Amino acid sequence: MDECTTITIDRLARHENMSVELRGWVYGRRSGGGIVFLLLRDGTGICQCVSEAADGDLFDTARHIPQESSVIVQGTVRKDPRAPGGYELRLSRLSVIHAAEEYPIARKRHGIDFLLRHRHLWLRSPRQTILMRIRHTLVAAIRDFFNRRGFILVDTPILSPGAAEGAATLFRVDYFGEEVYLAQTGQLYLEAACMVLGKVYCFGPTFRAEKSKTRRHLTEFWMVEPELAFADLEKVMALAEDLVRYLVDRVLERHAHDLEFLGRNPDTLKTVQRPFARISYSEAVDLLHSPRLAAETEQLLAARRDRLADRIRQLDEIETRMKGMQAGRRRDQLAGQAIDLRTEIHRLEEEVRNLPVHLQQAREFTWGEDLGGDEETLISRHFDRPVFITRYPRKCRAFYMKADPEDPRLVLNFDLLAPEGYGEIIGGSQREDDLSRLLERMQEENMDPAPYQWYLDLRRYGSVPHGGFGLGVERFLSWLCGLDHVREAIAFPRMLGRIYP
Ligand code: 4AD
Ligand code: MG
Repeated sequence: MDECTTITIDRLARHENMSVELRGWVYGRRSGGGIVFLLLRDGTGICQCVSEAADGDLFDTARHIPQESSVIVQGTVRKDPRAPGGYELRLSRLSVIHAAEEYPIARKRHGIDFLLRHRHLWLRSPRQTILMRIRHTLVAAIRDFFNRRGFILVDTPILSPGAAEGAATLFRVDYFGEEVYLAQTGQLYLEAACMVLGKVYCFGPTFRAEKSKTRRHLTEFWMVEPELAFADLEKVMALAEDLVRYLVDRVLERHAHDLEFLGRNPDTLKTVQRPFARISYSEAVDLLHSPRLAAETEQLLAARRDRLADRIRQLDEIETRMKGMQAGRRRDQLAGQAIDLRTEIHRLEEEVRNLPVHLQQAREFTWGEDLGGDEETLISRHFDRPVFITRYPRKCRAFYMKADPEDPRLVLNFDLLAPEGYGEIIGGSQREDDLSRLLERMQEENMDPAPYQWYLDLRRYGSVPHGGFGLGVERFLSWLCGLDHVREAIAFPRMLGRIYP
């Protein structure tokens, strides 16, 4: 090939009228009237590559190249407002590295099962590419936040001898004949590290054998957990607030356009202002029983019903128009709109079905139960910003949480719920730093103290008030990007009944 600079698609604008080389995959193709447009993707963007009939062999190759073939192309960068990204490549060379077989993912609608089974290919779509890029920004921002504030990263083990977040969700592993578990959290080890370094964090994969299928649960997810020595609940919550604000800002700064592409209005996130709302668990229970919440939910239900009726009408119209229409771009466009409408209708129907159920559950909720996903949804819709719920009954929380000195039925903990019904994105607490009270709590939970002697030692040698929290990356990303389900927030999701690919 001729000498010319190899660049990536995101750098096209800096090479206007220059000859460049791009390497990537054919994402789409359109031709007609002696011209062919290849859409090339390389992970940094999509570039429209143009060839005309006068190009001879090049034109023929371009016209017949299968979708997802890998190619190296050369050409001149031209400004064109009609091209995606504003620039296109007038092809001078096209060399096919590998001509792809017929690609299984068509533009037509696939069911979610099909897409998940083809996750390795589904990732190539623009939407999934963008999600992976935003996740990258989010993860980098998390590290920056803690590093800049002087937290030390401590990697905690994945193979662990005991439970930390309840025995029900443990994954068992045979460790040379001994039963051990995949880590549900790094927290207990982090507590040891924070007695060394003061401010620490861990960031890694965690595992929970979640046996229910929900929009919020994965069996393998990534969690960042900071831990602070000499800290009370207030200090831990202030840190969580700062972190959330920082992460939202960083993502908005870099990905406002990407969010729009995903159908997420970035302005929604600009309303995430400090201070976040704060209520106690007991106030949350009152809220669930309140006529105000009932009225709000009824109002929302009515609005959703209206929208549903409207969308059904639109779909009807489109389907009528499509009847008797010939194949072609206009029809494809309508078909695309119909697919989007059906997806929305499906979601709205589900919501209209669920809202009355959730409302009933809220009415029947009794003090002492744990707040579940449905209650969280109602509460988090009530506020226009993230809301902290503090001081849960100790019976529905982990053994390590510190008893509330003002009411021993409660613990000094919090959950942070994201707005718009997204629910819990962070869980944290002050830890029980008193040896005898911690032992009592373990007994209450029927825990064998033997595997926890090292953890109890932390209360024997220079115990200090301390605390921390865990933020789930996939839950956070789902909220930021307005996703319906956490499964799109990680490249290869692990869920109940899903381990391929
Ligand atoms: O509330 P959790 O269980 O808290 C802990 O694990 C503590 N040890 C954290 C700490 O204090 N250091 O989990 C923390 C967060 C949740 O708020 C949620 O964002 C996420 O982890 N999470 C999950 N994300 C996806 N799928 C699941 N099954 C999750 N379980 C928790
Ligand atoms: Mg939690």
